[in-house]
Amino acid sequence: MNRSRAELGGIPTPIMATYFAQRASAGLLISDATHVSPMSVSSLNAPCLYSEAHVNGWRRVTDAVHRAGGRIFVQIRHVGRVSHPSRLPNGTLPIAPSSIAALEETFTPDGPQPFPTPRVLSTEEIGGVVDEFRLAAEHGLRAGFDGVEIHAANGYLIDQFLRDGSNQRTDCYGGFAANRVRFLLEITEAVVEVWSAARVGVRLSPHTAFGDMRDSDPVTTFLHAAAALNRFGLAYLHLIEGVSGSECAPQENAPRLARRMRTAFGGSLIINGSYTRPLADEVIASGEADLVSFGVPFLANPDLPERLRSGKPLNSAATNRFYGGNVLGYTNHSEDARGYTDYPTLGNPSLFNHL
Ligand SMILES: Cc1cc2nc3c(=O)[nH]c(=O)nc-3n(C[C@H](O)[C@H](O)[C@H](O)COP(=O)(O)O)c2cc1C
Repeated sequence: MNRSRAELGGIPTPIMATYFAQRASAGLLISDATHVSPMSVSSLNAPCLYSEAHVNGWRRVTDAVHRAGGRIFVQIRHVGRVSHPSRLPNGTLPIAPSSIAALEETFTPDGPQPFPTPRVLSTEEIGGVVDEFRLAAEHGLRAGFDGVEIHAANGYLIDQFLRDGSNQRTDCYGGFAANRVRFLLEITEAVVEVWSAARVGVRLSPHTAFGDMRDSDPVTTFLHAAAALNRFGLAYLHLIEGVSGSECAPQENAPRLARRMRTAFGGSLIINGSYTRPLADEVIASGEADLVSFGVPFLANPDLPERLRSGKPLNSAATNRFYGGNVLGYTNHSEDARGYTDYPTLGNPSLFNHL
């Protein structure tokens, strides 16, 4: 999860190594969404993976996790239209499949502003963006990660291609679901040329409206994506389909997709979105998913696996400390530890000092 504790320019900091090592008892850790190029950036202190300095910074994180006995995948992301010229090289416009702005606001040096109407990627330019994901995957290997998760969820660039609310292209990347899935498949192909497919996962979020996302027929779009990914033999599909009533649950009258996507995908399906231990047991017993992932509960509980096993109560998250520093570009490292690396564990209950 993006916690915005990297240096300006996206170099991972030592505190990030501490944070992930504290959570090394996870079956699998997945890193912050990590930007694949200067044009892919959301906030300035989110981590990146396009330069040697990024590789070296992440190496400190992966070493710390491995020393603590854990495993960590890097999640690679391009945010596409949900960026702003104030954060992009030469003040340029963000890129997207179509010239459709996300009708939401973003932080800028001049206060909250609407997302701009993005510049449309030409058909010829798309291969260059695929190459950015390939390079990030190569860098991930050299940085010592155990695998890669392709972030195709939550309204970012790949999701913008998948859903017809943001993709109105008339070339082979737009129109029918088979065309809208093409960009994701080309990126997956590129990543599995670098990594064994058994070390690569993909994250999808059919119901998430975040980033002004919508699709006229999510059942067809996402079942098509799951079936098309089947051919690669990936480690997993990571589906955001929250428990009923959560932000990322299906809207009223919309069907849950997990069971059908699991069948179409044919491999392990991880499900996510406001799960608790009992609800996780339920969703696995029901056959909708093979595994459950935890976001907010894990950021607030470094020893989450032990707490889930023993039924001990969970710390609640300090939501005002979700993001460190400042999205506009300065970092304040003494502040950054608060609500990040100072959550108490069962063995050390005195750490909690960030509220
Ligand atoms: C502070 C914060 C940062 C997040 N960053 C990411 C991210 O970088 N990549 C991603 O795929 N999801 C991200 N998410 C979404 C979570 O991964 C997860 O889907 C969501 O919190 C629901 O799961 P949970 O109820 O277990 O927390 C973030 C959520 C929060 C609250």
